[in-house]
Amino acid sequence: MKALAEKFGDNPDLWGLTGLLHDLDMDQIDVDDPKDHGKITIQILEKEFGNDLPKEMSHAIQAHCENLGHTDIKRESKLDYALAAAENLSGFLVACALVMPDKKLASVKPNSVLKKLKKKDFARKVNRDFIYDIDKTNLSLEEFVEIALKAVNEISDEIGL
Ligand SMILES: [Fe+2]
Repeated sequence: MKALAEKFGDNPDLWGLTGLLHDLDMDQIDVDDPKDHGKITIQILEKEFGNDLPKEMSHAIQAHCENLGHTDIKRESKLDYALAAAENLSGFLVACALVMPDKKLASVKPNSVLKKLKKKDFARKVNRDFIYDIDKTNLSLEEFVEIALKAVNEISDEIGL
């Protein structure tokens, strides 16, 4: 998210924190019926930060659940589209690394990511539509994959890949 903010000349701290906090409720929801996903995160953040919670962050977190059918808040801003796309692409990149012989992100190449995205059976829980919607930010899918791969490689030690 920080790398995308830098690409867009936006606020890396806001974007990075939005990425970091957006799934804060994962241990409080039913993953098989995630009807409260996002809602609980916002409750936690509003309790903690009150009016200091940035509106853009709140909107993006709620909109990243628009496909779950329990919110009318849709992705509109660059941050909204970036969050939903990055959540899914980051998971996808981890899946790509885990099928490499050395299980390392460094072995994952942009072209193989693009090819694997077309294979519906690979990492099938990943929401491809949200990834492809990165074009709503005027960034191409190819550029997005390159930026994301570079960014996750920079923290590969921290995430053990
Ligand atoms: Fe989520």
